[in-house]
Amino acid sequence: MTDVKKELLYTGKAKNVYKTENDDEVLIEFRDDITALDGGKKDTLNKKGAYNALISSKFFKILEDEGILTQFIKLINENEMIAKSLDMIPLEVICRNIATGSLLRKYPFHKNQHLQPPVLQFDYKNDVYHDPMLNDSIIIALEIATEEQLQQIRQITLKINKVLSEFLYERGLILVDFKVEFGFDKDGNIVLGDEISPDTTRLWDSETHKNFDKDIFRKGEEGVVDAYEVVVNLVLNDEEKQKWNID
Ligand code: CDP
Repeated sequence: MTDVKKELLYTGKAKNVYKTENDDEVLIEFRDDITALDGGKKDTLNKKGAYNALISSKFFKILEDEGILTQFIKLINENEMIAKSLDMIPLEVICRNIATGSLLRKYPFHKNQHLQPPVLQFDYKNDVYHDPMLNDSIIIALEIATEEQLQQIRQITLKINKVLSEFLYERGLILVDFKVEFGFDKDGNIVLGDEISPDTTRLWDSETHKNFDKDIFRKGEEGVVDAYEVVVNLVLNDEEKQKWNID
């Protein structure tokens, strides 16, 4: 516990969000809980929260440097982040560079087909309706976002994809696909929120295509946290590793 934490605002599947003294900021705690299959598979894995917080903060800093607005302010602990408070848009924006997973089950893509331009998909973040896929007209009719806002969300997501794909490829990983979420800040800007971590991406070794992400857990295999630790080691620089005691 830190003294910054106040009242719990929201608890999700893997994170808690707390109020802080400043109404414009929240504290996001990354927990060690991991879930998959619409909450049907659960576990608690020591250090998972810290690794995701470290990886997500690093990605958000890189994206900020490239001019993308993010929620990230600072990490105050290895698993606690101070972030801009946002009015979240209930969309899961999925961006895919390689056809895998449900794309192969639902559509006639070839296994590992390169998707250029990347495939963008919008799912409704709604547990009651089990996150159904949306299209532009449904999003606009439900007043989730306007056409202009959707266009902006598409552009930002493609830029995130380009920046992170290049950063990861230089470190031996392929960004196969990922999910992002956005919110509005107090000035009405569309800002990247939530997290980008091995929980929300598919990361493959560029040579062997071995997974370094939550698919290991989804498949019921061992070594989830070890894989996340490999990602931490690949993305953090020496100074960051020293600061957070990463070997
Ligand atoms: O690709 P497939 O349809 O099998 O699965 P998906 O759930 O649509 O996942 C696509 C990508 O988005 C993966 O990198 C997931 O980790 C991520 N995702 C997520 O982080 N959270 C969700 N609720 C849904 C997808």
